[in-house]
Amino acid sequence: MTASTASLAATSATALGRGGNMAPVERDEIADAKALLPGGVLGGNALPEDLRFVYSHGAGPRFWDASGNEYIDYVLGSGTLFLGHAPQAIAKAVADQAARGLHFFAYLNEPAVVLARRLQPLLPCAERIRFTTSGSESTFHAIRLARGFTGKSKILKFEGAYHGTHDYAQLSTSPKTLANFPSPVPDTAGIPREVQDLMLVAPYNDIDTFASLIAEHAHELAAVIVEPIQRIISPVPGFLEAVRELTAKHGVVMILDEVVTGFRYALGGAQEYFGITPDLATYGKIIGGGLPVGAVAGRADIMDQADPGKKGTPAYVYQNGTLQGHMLGSAAGLATLDVLEQPGVYTNVFAMADKLRAGLQEVFDRHDMGITVFGEGPMWHALFSDKVPQNYRDTAATDLKKLAAFECEMFRNGIFLLPNNRRFISITHTDAELEQTFAAADRACRTFKN
Ligand SMILES: Cc1ncc(COP(=O)(O)O)c(C=O)c1O
Repeated sequence: MTASTASLAATSATALGRGGNMAPVERDEIADAKALLPGGVLGGNALPEDLRFVYSHGAGPRFWDASGNEYIDYVLGSGTLFLGHAPQAIAKAVADQAARGLHFFAYLNEPAVVLARRLQPLLPCAERIRFTTSGSESTFHAIRLARGFTGKSKILKFEGAYHGTHDYAQLSTSPKTLANFPSPVPDTAGIPREVQDLMLVAPYNDIDTFASLIAEHAHELAAVIVEPIQRIISPVPGFLEAVRELTAKHGVVMILDEVVTGFRYALGGAQEYFGITPDLATYGKIIGGGLPVGAVAGRADIMDQADPGKKGTPAYVYQNGTLQGHMLGSAAGLATLDVLEQPGVYTNVFAMADKLRAGLQEVFDRHDMGITVFGEGPMWHALFSDKVPQNYRDTAATDLKKLAAFECEMFRNGIFLLPNNRRFISITHTDAELEQTFAAADRACRTFKN
């Protein structure tokens, strides 16, 4: 911890949350954002008007808004900040690299080559690696590689899975109306009907339906893309194994979307954790330590279609990006691996997450809230339900409006959760944060009015 982050952390004894404190500077920033940015936000998520804030700085598991109010963070840059906010090791690696050069493009640079060298033995499917700059780019390019390799066009995804922002991904991610399988439902305007016709949707964790869909459509299916833990829903025993076995049997590429699970469940991600080796795997989030880095890794015969030496031939699949192989991102990725390779890191964060789930469940039960806290490893969630969901429809059947209202009440008490989104925990969360979280949850239960 640097001197400045140490002094920031030392302020954590103060009350969490805004508590009515909004400085003029933050009020002005929120007003300007409203005038300048669609919806007054930077992307696809907006908090209710009265809860909006502007992030100022963070340290470990905590951050502060522009008025100086302190929060405990379970959103963690949408799961990117597994090492917490402002980790010293990454800040130093990025500063050192910045002094030597920011970005190069094309050909080779040292940090990117060293990162590929470090990653290859960790990721079971990685005979080859191609860097991108986001998870969405990774899934988009994996899909193109699968189509090039098989000469087929259709892609099967699972209902409720999120694979990014491109047209092939924004289908049946969080459908408000439920269609019959395998018809997709667009999540956004702007997706051509023709793209929808190229996608099939199956229920997650349902081996029989998947088996019959893949058998029926194998002749036109290029790939199956699957989140190993779908959002927060764990695979039932045998599900990922069935996806692996049946894709191989039917000549369909299996893409394991490890954007969230990569480096979080083990250094080798879900592949190591579940013992499943796909044909291709996609990465984002932790791989770049908070900088915009993604990757596709996989079988040499599929990945080598992106060899520029094949340009102009039917065997070439175009994959490129101005900012890929970025040196700052690669330096941050290398520093991240240095931290994650320390003994005990995963055991500790898994134990802390178990403690968090158990403690929160105890608070909710004490208040008779009808909430089940669940999750596996360093991700967790809570639903107004008495059972753990196995697929999207189980989750959609719970009272998500009430949940979002309760999550806002948690935020009023200083616990940052993205409404209706699963939560993360970083390797910097300690008993102190957990105790404050339990106390905040207790207050939220007392004041929550549905
Ligand atoms: C499983 C999964 N795949 C892909 C993506 C897209 O990644 P990005 O937001 O970096 O484009 C996400 C983002 O949350 C994700 O959770």
